[in-house]
Amino acid sequence: MYIVSTQIEHVLHESRRFAPSEEFSKLARVKSKAEYEAMYKESIDNPEAFWAKAAEELHWFKKWDRVLNDDKPPFYKWFEGGQTNLSYNCLDRHLTTWRKNKAAIIWEGEPYGQRQILTYRELHRQVCKFANVLKALGVSKGDRVAIYMPMIPDLAIAMLACARIGAPHSIIFGGFSAAALVDRINDAGASMVITADGGYRRGAVVELKKAVDEALGKCPSVRKVVVAQRTHTPVQMVHGRDIWWHEAMENASDVCPAEPLDAEHPLYILYTSGSTGKPKGILHTTGGYMVGTYYTSKYVFDLREEDTYWCTADIGWVTGHSYIVYGILANGATSIMYEGAPNFPTPDRFWQIIERYHVNVFYTAPTAIRAFSRWGDGWPARNDLSSLRLLGTVGEPINPEAWMWYHTHIGGGRCPIVDTWWQTETGAIMITTLPGANETKPGSAGLPFFGIKPAIVDEDGKEVDNSHSGLLVVQKPWPAMLRTLYGDDERYDEVYWSKYKKQNWYFTGDGAYQDKNGYYMIIGRIDDVINVSGHRLGTMEIESALVSHPMVAEAAVVGYPHDLKGQGVCAFVSVPVGNTPGEKDKEALREHVAKEIGAIAKPDIIRFTDALPKTRSGKIMRRLLRDIAAGRDTTGDTTTLEDFTVLAKLREDQEA
Ligand code: PRX
Repeated sequence: MYIVSTQIEHVLHESRRFAPSEEFSKLARVKSKAEYEAMYKESIDNPEAFWAKAAEELHWFKKWDRVLNDDKPPFYKWFEGGQTNLSYNCLDRHLTTWRKNKAAIIWEGEPYGQRQILTYRELHRQVCKFANVLKALGVSKGDRVAIYMPMIPDLAIAMLACARIGAPHSIIFGGFSAAALVDRINDAGASMVITADGGYRRGAVVELKKAVDEALGKCPSVRKVVVAQRTHTPVQMVHGRDIWWHEAMENASDVCPAEPLDAEHPLYILYTSGSTGKPKGILHTTGGYMVGTYYTSKYVFDLREEDTYWCTADIGWVTGHSYIVYGILANGATSIMYEGAPNFPTPDRFWQIIERYHVNVFYTAPTAIRAFSRWGDGWPARNDLSSLRLLGTVGEPINPEAWMWYHTHIGGGRCPIVDTWWQTETGAIMITTLPGANETKPGSAGLPFFGIKPAIVDEDGKEVDNSHSGLLVVQKPWPAMLRTLYGDDERYDEVYWSKYKKQNWYFTGDGAYQDKNGYYMIIGRIDDVINVSGHRLGTMEIESALVSHPMVAEAAVVGYPHDLKGQGVCAFVSVPVGNTPGEKDKEALREHVAKEIGAIAKPDIIRFTDALPKTRSGKIMRRLLRDIAAGRDTTGDTTTLEDFTVLAKLREDQEA
């Protein structure tokens, strides 16, 4: 199913390089290339000693017996025998220091003027109270809790409370629909859902509780629903099942010691798209994930005690889990959390926030940067961005033009940009450019982080040379790696490890190449996953949503290059013979997909066709559809195509 490595095109020829200023390097944790190289070498030559040293910076109730247990690949265990608690390390650890009254979370609501600052002490108090609420409502260690909330402090409180008592959370992005909730809640067998009456998005209210109500008819495992009050939208409370957050908190005790948990105790499940229909429940565990996110936050964002750090992701995605909450708070840093859209009410909302809080480190996505650059240079120019010292990007390859715009208009030409390559599965940043140590190169993720051993190989596992692209693998286990797919060890093994079974390498699903300095350039997914605005969507998921509509006989979904989103969704849809669908039907299908999955999955383009190009064995030839969607000529092999007229017809329609 994968494209052979030599066919992955790489066309980027970028020679610009940007070195960090002397002033930046002098104060950075890693100050030079030589220092990076020495630390990297140490981490690869002796990973166990390296990671043990990193872990020792954090609190353990009981020290581990063994740093890495690799007896049964791909089921690795880190810090085996150790006991810790991530909520403790994010909160309690700081309370005995001067950080007690430091801002942990600075929250800004979408409606103007709504702000809240939670110090470490206050956040700890709220988390303890909510952990007691969870316990009182029957949640015990090991029980799964689904969280479906807007970007409000209660979301971070709920996560940290779950982590405190050892109840794995499963956060479902607030943009997903009721139908998407059903699958995720049932797969995890969650006994509780934490939600809110609604959330704000571009001035409108997203009715979260309503979606939960709609879903729960099909979720027999859920016994309790806790509802935070955010928008004061009228909601129906089901007697005996639904409880208001504020009422439950009223009398809850603020004393709740963190539970000592085994290092491999499940911390959370996060669903992500794969190349088959069913979303995959990525399982992360406590100790390794904690060390990985803590250490990457410290070195990649070069966090300093006085920094105000802002990651603009939604906590519903892994970026928010690792780099708004866990990794950042474990470092005792100040994390900004913004509820709303970047362009509400004006396209400079982000820049206003940077000015207001004197943000120093800013982490966002290429899709947002492309949108900002479209909205015009005038918007950032209106605000004082001089507090910024470091910028970051994540989620998809950044095109050099967007990189340069970010560098010039946001970074004022002085801030290093750390491009960070990683995945929901990897838990923490894997490839990046340590800001004080290494030169950055627009469009390139950079070099491996400590302890990470990536390689670019061909189908047979042979390393390709610098002039070729190939498949990106990781050759050694790392602490923050996923441990399995929830409840499906077999699929975990199949999806990530079967391709290079002999070697025990992790297969990322990405194509990449390296330049002569060893910098990694990520080309993107080579499987049936599309990356829309930095969000992963499985083509199969969208196809199943489409075919569940009575109008549709068959559907094939592919990605195509999209100026703003990186990739757009193009759906080729065939309808039963005799039907002649029109524009209205396209809109109906778009709405249907939004209902089944969420608005992010709506196809940008829908093309009705009589038939889809297939191989003789009946497999849809997506490669050809990708070419058509991108307006490219087909260069690859078409000899297995069953009916050439189908292809010709699609091309004709394209030209018409
Ligand atoms: O294709 C890569 C792309 O996003 C995928 C992972 O998506 P997800 O699990 O949703 O996590 C996104 C946030 C960590 C990868 O397989 N990707 C992520 N970061 C980059 C990237 N592609 C290029 N450059 C990046 N910095």
